[in-house]
Amino acid sequence: MRPINKRRWLVEHEGRIHAVKRGRSGRFHFENMPRLHRILAFFLRVTFTKWIGQVNALKVKLEQFDLACPSLPAAFDGLRILLVADPHIDNTDALVEKIIKAVDSVAYDICILGGDYTFGRAWKNAIDYSNLETIAKYLVSRSPVYGVLGNHDIYDVGELLETIGVIMLVNDNAGIDRDGEKIYISGLDDCHYFGADDIKLTDESIEEGVFKIMVSHSPETYKKAADAGYALYFAGHTHAGQVCLPGQKAIVRGTSVPTRILNGLWHHGKMTGYTSRGVGTSGIPVRFFCPPQIPLITLRSVPQIQ
Ligand SMILES: [Fe+2]
Repeated sequence: MRPINKRRWLVEHEGRIHAVKRGRSGRFHFENMPRLHRILAFFLRVTFTKWIGQVNALKVKLEQFDLACPSLPAAFDGLRILLVADPHIDNTDALVEKIIKAVDSVAYDICILGGDYTFGRAWKNAIDYSNLETIAKYLVSRSPVYGVLGNHDIYDVGELLETIGVIMLVNDNAGIDRDGEKIYISGLDDCHYFGADDIKLTDESIEEGVFKIMVSHSPETYKKAADAGYALYFAGHTHAGQVCLPGQKAIVRGTSVPTRILNGLWHHGKMTGYTSRGVGTSGIPVRFFCPPQIPLITLRSVPQIQ
């Protein structure tokens, strides 16, 4: 893993103000308004609906689909990618078993861990990482696993995952070879909270014109990735709203991207992106009209005829 980014260091170790609080609109940002969380908690209590949301939050769905990528080298046609984003595993103990159960019977080639491994922030609270270790060891036993850091993750979590065998991409990339052809997976450090993303450093050793997949915890860096020639972009972070109206319509959004980029498949220029709803929960461990998800994405160099 690369040495800790300076901006990340300042937030983690010197108490510098984080990126979410910067800017004129910072004080009105959802994450800077704990009162909203208290209002939701009160509403769930008086309507006796918290238990419904808790049950919903454990209905993990494995969602399999093909993704057409015209520029994908033929050797990688059929590459199966499991995307596990936002487990926030200290928020819901029972999720460990649900995640393993959801993926245990399916085959895939690589796994991407999209960040936000815990909900608590370790420089503020002591965190028990045993559930995270269980999940990571299981996934490493199944396939190569690539991971990025999210806005809830300190650098030490990356080091812990690396000792388990996860290839941590923190403003870094890794090549994958198959039958004489090569693609790259890149991982940006978190842009949302730490402001630590560095796409120039990430791309430093990648040849021009190759097929590259960007993994960034948040979709917020989508324009940078498209400008840098990425064909694919995988993200989580938004939880697609987590507490939604019917039709997965987010009530509150804490991410500065267009609505079309908050959830599922989207396009920007020549780049195709996918924003996962995530598998865990932030704050109150509930979900409404927004089921937890583990996407299993099969890349196709040409669209498949059904
Ligand atoms: Fe998250």
